[in-house]
Amino acid sequence: MNNGKTKRTRARSKKTQVNVARVQILSEIVQKAKGGGGLARVQAQWEKGKFTARERINYIADEGSFQELDLLVTTRCKSFGLDKTEAPGDGVVTGFCRVDGREVAIFAQDFTVLGGSLGRAHAMKICKVMDMAYQNRVPVIGLLDSGGARIQEGVESLDGYAEVFYRNVKYSGVIPQISLILGPCAGGAVYSPALTDFVFMVEGISHMFITGPDVVKAATGEDVTFDSLGGPKVHASKSGVCHFVAKSEPDCFRQLKELLSYLPQHRWEKPHAAPTPDPVDRETPLLETFWGVDPKKAYAVHPVIWQVADEFKFYEVQDHYAKNVTVGFVRLGGEVVGVVANNSGYMAGALDIDASDKAARFVRFLNAFNIPILTLVDVPGFWPSLEQEHGGIIRHGAKLLAAYADATVPKVTVVLRKAYGGAYIAMGSKYLHSDFNLAFPAAELAVMGPKGAAAILYARQISSLRDPADREALRDKLAAEYSSMFATPYQAASSGSVDEVIEPAHARAKIIRAFRFLDFKRRPGSHENRGNTPV
Ligand code: HXC
Repeated sequence: MNNGKTKRTRARSKKTQVNVARVQILSEIVQKAKGGGGLARVQAQWEKGKFTARERINYIADEGSFQELDLLVTTRCKSFGLDKTEAPGDGVVTGFCRVDGREVAIFAQDFTVLGGSLGRAHAMKICKVMDMAYQNRVPVIGLLDSGGARIQEGVESLDGYAEVFYRNVKYSGVIPQISLILGPCAGGAVYSPALTDFVFMVEGISHMFITGPDVVKAATGEDVTFDSLGGPKVHASKSGVCHFVAKSEPDCFRQLKELLSYLPQHRWEKPHAAPTPDPVDRETPLLETFWGVDPKKAYAVHPVIWQVADEFKFYEVQDHYAKNVTVGFVRLGGEVVGVVANNSGYMAGALDIDASDKAARFVRFLNAFNIPILTLVDVPGFWPSLEQEHGGIIRHGAKLLAAYADATVPKVTVVLRKAYGGAYIAMGSKYLHSDFNLAFPAAELAVMGPKGAAAILYARQISSLRDPADREALRDKLAAEYSSMFATPYQAASSGSVDEVIEPAHARAKIIRAFRFLDFKRRPGSHENRGNTPV
């Protein structure tokens, strides 16, 4: 009896030892894989003021929520010395986690492993996590820090990028996709973000370019720095590639969480409502004072948006780019609404190529993700110039017309002041099928401004006068006549182009009332996914 028991005990203890040894091996394998490109490279990453891929995920994820996938995947390429190179995780950490309690899929490129470059295995890891995000209807967050296509793997890395781009496009408008640029990103590492909905960059560490300064020098002879070629300032203000600039990585992660709070998990969901102590019928008398009696006075539209929004909060998108149009998120009575507003403080709020593109893409995003649109109009027209015509303002302005006409989400438009010509139509006008169109008493809805109209309508009468002073006086008189007839909201209100002329003090209450009614709106064609195509 005793003998048997001893044997069993010994056998159990041997099994335990074997299991302990196996667990030990697993722990060593995992530890090694998690070490990335080794201490020296990690040190170099820190010296550049950058976090490592794992530190970044830890920062973003709710504590203990990160579930990694494919930790042990590595490259199968043996060319150019890769057979002798350790490439833990093939240079990318992938998995899913919770952010402020919401599930998201996440991947973080590890610059310490082959410069975060993308080879076949690296690409397939990203694709796997994107597929899981799509199947489970959760957003994808990409943390990019990569030299682009892995040169040693040749066409396999290009094919890997093609697989990623394909998913960026197919899942566009179905699940939100957000890119954080956290290092020098080149080639494919910039095209994938450009296909996603929002791009963040961080001052001092983020760069985006198709090819780096050396190649630019070799090809064109131009001397450029990383910053002048593709730093955050350039992409936030000139190219329009970047939507948000952060001062540091922690600031970037904070902003990411704020953005996520305005987004749904997927296109069949509404963003979560947030109860607000701000009364829905709060009066907004300040809105009467922005331009006083001067119809030409420039003013920043932001305070107008703050006045209307819950708790005066506005989360602006692309604030440095095409400042003549202002876009972003607010909450109204707790519900998320996207705002598109002409900003008369810049270029008189006229629409140019960049403003048309910026507004068009934002409208497409809102429509794809079930977010109602509030349009605040104060637009003197499309910006007239040779440069704009040659640059294709017709083509770009058409994108805005198409985006509004396509959008089936609830649309409420308020004409604050000017609404002229094609730009009036483009900015969510009634017969482009906006749902509720309101106007302030100071609104002017017409084909063009009174002076321009008088100059065309009465050209012969005006030019028949010899004295320039007489000509000017007649032009002013005729412009005033035109203005009193057409540069008011009342002709539009009498034809139904404006549903109601409202007192500015009631703007918040009226807008929220309209959106509440539209909660029940049926959306013909909304089953079709139109995606958020780059424009
Ligand atoms: C393989 C790469 C790599 C790449 C960087 N590395 N990029 N390895 N393929 N694409 C490696 C470097 O050899 C180096 O390895 C390590 O990563 C760190 O790179 P450094 O150059 O030392 O870092 P840094 O000075 O910070 O410069 C970063 C960089 C630069 C600006 C990204 O490395 C660079 O210009 N890389 C090439 C960019 C590029 O042209 N990529 C191809 C794009 S074409 P060691 O062992 O020395 O530490 C592309 C095609 C897709 O992506 C297009 C789709 C439309």
